[in-house]
Amino acid sequence: MLVLGVESSCDETGIALYDTQQGLLSHALHSQVAMHADFGGVVPELASRDHIQRALPLTQQVLDHANKTLADIDGIAYTQGPGLSGALLVGTSIAQSLAFALQVPSIGVHHLEGHLLAPLLEDNPPAFPFVALLVSGGHSQLMRVDGIGQYELLGDTLDDAAGEAFDKTAKLLGLGYPGGPALAKLAEKGQARFTLPRPMLHSKDLNFSFSGLKTAVLTLVNKHQPLDQQTQADIAWEFQESVTEILTKKCMTALRETGLDSLVVSGGVGANTRLRESLNAATKRKLCNVSYPRLEFCTDNGAMIAFAGAMRLDAMPDSQAALDYSFQVRPRWDLAELKQP
Ligand code: KG4
Ligand code: ZN
Repeated sequence: MLVLGVESSCDETGIALYDTQQGLLSHALHSQVAMHADFGGVVPELASRDHIQRALPLTQQVLDHANKTLADIDGIAYTQGPGLSGALLVGTSIAQSLAFALQVPSIGVHHLEGHLLAPLLEDNPPAFPFVALLVSGGHSQLMRVDGIGQYELLGDTLDDAAGEAFDKTAKLLGLGYPGGPALAKLAEKGQARFTLPRPMLHSKDLNFSFSGLKTAVLTLVNKHQPLDQQTQADIAWEFQESVTEILTKKCMTALRETGLDSLVVSGGVGANTRLRESLNAATKRKLCNVSYPRLEFCTDNGAMIAFAGAMRLDAMPDSQAALDYSFQVRPRWDLAELKQP
């Protein structure tokens, strides 16, 4: 079954073709980072307008690259939520219109399910069950994953998500948008000099809290005005250490408490090199496995949506593959509402 995937929940238009026999055939991405950079963050209206311009040319590009035509498509998957409503509407309308024209089944995919399953696109994919750490711009969650649609929330953030903490801290340090990669780059030049808190490191649960960390950075920044480059880098270094230590400790506790020996990391912060180093070392010590998506599939992309959609469409009995092309987007959508296919 050949599935076209369409992702447009935020500031990246991602399109991909996934074949349930042959795997990922092609994928293409347009990032709007440069367009939003002047505004210091994503401007929803501009994001929607840009998705409109990019989606169909990218679709043609992935078809050409895979040597396929529209007539070869057996199903269409699109991000239905969560995300920016206008941006979601663009991808959803295009996906549903194409499905209607081709008279093929379509399916709305939960963006976080896409992230969660992204590591399964790699060679030697991890087997179910596993513990998943999902760390993106909007989420920091630990989950027990027993199969597609079988997600048990083990821990969540009480305030800022990990990526949000990176972005806000980067802003405090005067770095541009998106802050995560910029802060990680700056931290490479930093060293141990300051001490920042490790919020909830020793809490008995698997929850996180990052907003206090951001406030502690603000206090440091105010104390060291005007910030010289080395001070900036040293604060970035310590911030990254704090987030890394908290995430690593909670992942190891989740593995111990569930009795599982496999960890899967996904979402934009999963691209962080220091975090990967730390998780690699900690899981190795406990003889556990850790898997990540390739770097480009940590952040938003169409491949993860094509894959998650293909798994669900493939599992759907023909009688249920309703050719219903009415739709609604779900800007807010709890992952726990998902069912097994
Ligand atoms: O998964 P994603 O692309 O979008 C959401 O669904 O939110 O994640 C984006 C987040 C941003 O907060 C970005 O700053 C962060 O991931 N990020 C990073 C790195 N690359 C992206 N954070 C830390 N280190 C990185 N290398
Ligand atoms: Zn995402």
